[in-house]
Amino acid sequence: MSIQFADIVRPARRSAPGDRPRAEPMADTVKHEKLFATPLLRYAVPDHEALNASLIEEGAKLRAASPGVDKSNRNGWHSAGNIFAEEADCFATLGEIAREAVLDATRRIKAKADPATLRLKVSGWMNANPPGGFNAPHTHPGAHWSGVYYVSQPEVEVGNSGMIEFLDPRSDLPNWRLLGAPAFRAKKKLRPRPGELILFPSYLTHWVYPNEAGGERVSIAFNATFRKKRGN
Ligand SMILES: [Fe+2]
Repeated sequence: MSIQFADIVRPARRSAPGDRPRAEPMADTVKHEKLFATPLLRYAVPDHEALNASLIEEGAKLRAASPGVDKSNRNGWHSAGNIFAEEADCFATLGEIAREAVLDATRRIKAKADPATLRLKVSGWMNANPPGGFNAPHTHPGAHWSGVYYVSQPEVEVGNSGMIEFLDPRSDLPNWRLLGAPAFRAKKKLRPRPGELILFPSYLTHWVYPNEAGGERVSIAFNATFRKKRGN
């Protein structure tokens, strides 16, 4: 037996005595909620050209002075320590921009906690990927938000070169993929432009496609973590 929604809806409230019950439109009888959504935010940083030129120049100095560290980077350079604490102003400026974006995103997700009552630590590092360089799939455990700011991104017309890809964190989804519904897609990839800052929850697995372009791809990634203020 098939049941139509219209068969089981309650009658309209304002019926006069003697009226036949009238079905309400389906929109009034179905409540569609989206549970457990994963936010992804993309910020266009204004006037980023001069900032990016300074970040490239000062980043090259750090790179000349340090071999960097091995993390998710393959054939690329990953700076050591917190780059926002480096001496050059451009790094502190970007650290401030990252903080602002994190606070904005935290407001947008309608957090009940007031960020002003919490301590926020933002710690960043530079990734420089020459042709062939990429980042293997990973998460950033222990943080709330993770982000990436794009300093330089070679122009690519086709293909996946330099794209960042996010993998669906939910389990048991292969069965759902048969239906092809956007809500259950397996992955989402983006190629942000220079001056763009993207922000996502740190549990979200992501990776970067190999740089197949001629130029270098430079980004500054960061983690942002809230903690209770001491004494609160
Ligand atoms: Fe990452």
